[in-house]
Amino acid sequence: MEAFNKIQELLSEINGAEPTDKEQLETFRIRFLGTKNIIKPLFGEMKSVPNDRKKEYGQALNGLKQAAEEKFNARKEALEASTDEAAYKDMDLSLPAAPIQQGSRHPISIVMNRMIDIFEKIGFVVAEEREIEDDWHNFTAMNTPADHPARDMQDTFYLKDSTTNLLRTHTSSVQARVMTTQKPPIRIIAPGRVYRNETISARSHCQFHQIEGLYIDKDVSFADMKQTLLYFAREMYGPDTDIRLRPSYFPFTEPSAEMDVWLGTDTPATKKLTKGTGWLEVLGCGMVDPNVLKNCDIDPEEYTGYAFGIGIERTAMQNFNISDIRLLFENDVRFLKQFSAVI
Ligand code: PHE
Repeated sequence: MEAFNKIQELLSEINGAEPTDKEQLETFRIRFLGTKNIIKPLFGEMKSVPNDRKKEYGQALNGLKQAAEEKFNARKEALEASTDEAAYKDMDLSLPAAPIQQGSRHPISIVMNRMIDIFEKIGFVVAEEREIEDDWHNFTAMNTPADHPARDMQDTFYLKDSTTNLLRTHTSSVQARVMTTQKPPIRIIAPGRVYRNETISARSHCQFHQIEGLYIDKDVSFADMKQTLLYFAREMYGPDTDIRLRPSYFPFTEPSAEMDVWLGTDTPATKKLTKGTGWLEVLGCGMVDPNVLKNCDIDPEEYTGYAFGIGIERTAMQNFNISDIRLLFENDVRFLKQFSAVI
C-alpha cells in the first residue's frame, strides 16, 4: 500500500537525518514537526486504508511522529551542548578573575578617624550634631553677641529667607547642644563639616572640617587642657613634637589660645604650609567662658571646663603633601585613588 510505503520512506529519512547546525535543525523541524509538516497529510490517508489495517496504520503513523520528535530533541540538545563548548574552548578557566576595584577613604576621613582614636583613648566620647543650626546654638549660646562681626552675612551662610537658620560656622555649636542636654562631667569630641562664606582659593574653602573638644567637670584647669593637647600633638605628629600656645581671642573661651605644632622647614611642603615659620597652626582653644556655661544652665561657680576646635584640612594637607585645599572637595577619582593604600 502506498501510504504504508510513504511512512517507511519518511521513517528512514528521519533515522538517517543528522542536522549538525541550527539551520539544518530548523529545516528538519519545519519538515517533520512544523504546522504544515509532511506527516500531517498521511493522517488524512486513513480513510483509504482497509479496515483491518487501520489500527496498524495508525500505530505506524504515531511511531513516525514520535521518531521525528525524538530525533529533533536529541539533536537540539547535542547542538546546544556543542555551542557551549565552543564558547568556552578558547577560554582559560584557570585565569584569576578581574580584580574588583576597591574604594578608598578620603584623606579627610583618614585624618579625622586618627584624631578621633587619639581622643577616644583618653575617654572622650563622639557627639555628632546637625550641620543646619540655629542662631542660638551657633552664636548666642556661645557668647557671640548679635553685633559681633562673626555674624556678618559675609561669613555665615543663612538659609534662604531665614535670619535664624544657618549652616554652622564651627563645631562649637555642638558644645551648646551637648551642654543643654547633658549634665557634667562632660567629655566629648564632635567631628564634622562646617561652612563659611569665604572666597575659595588654594588655602581656604567655603566648607571644611573641624573636631570640637569639650571637657566640663569640677576643677578643670588650663594646665589640664595644655597637657591633653600636648598628648594629642605627640600622638598625631610624632612623639617629639613641640607645641606652642599663643594668646588669642574667642568669644566663648577666656582665656583663649591658638596652638601651633612644630613641623620645621626641612621640606618644601612644610616650608609652604608653615609659611616659612616651621609652626603649623592646628587649633583654637581656651577655658569655657562662664557666660557660655550660664547660657546652658551649668553653674560656673561649680564647674569649669576647656574647649578646643581642631582644623582638619591643614593636617590632611601636611600629611599627604596636598598643595591645594580645593583638591579635597573636587572628588576627582584620579586624586582620591592615591589614598587607597592608606587605611
Ligand atoms: N570655634 C573656633 C573656630 O572655629 C575654634 C575654637 C573651638 C576655639 C573651641 C576655642 C574653643 O575657630
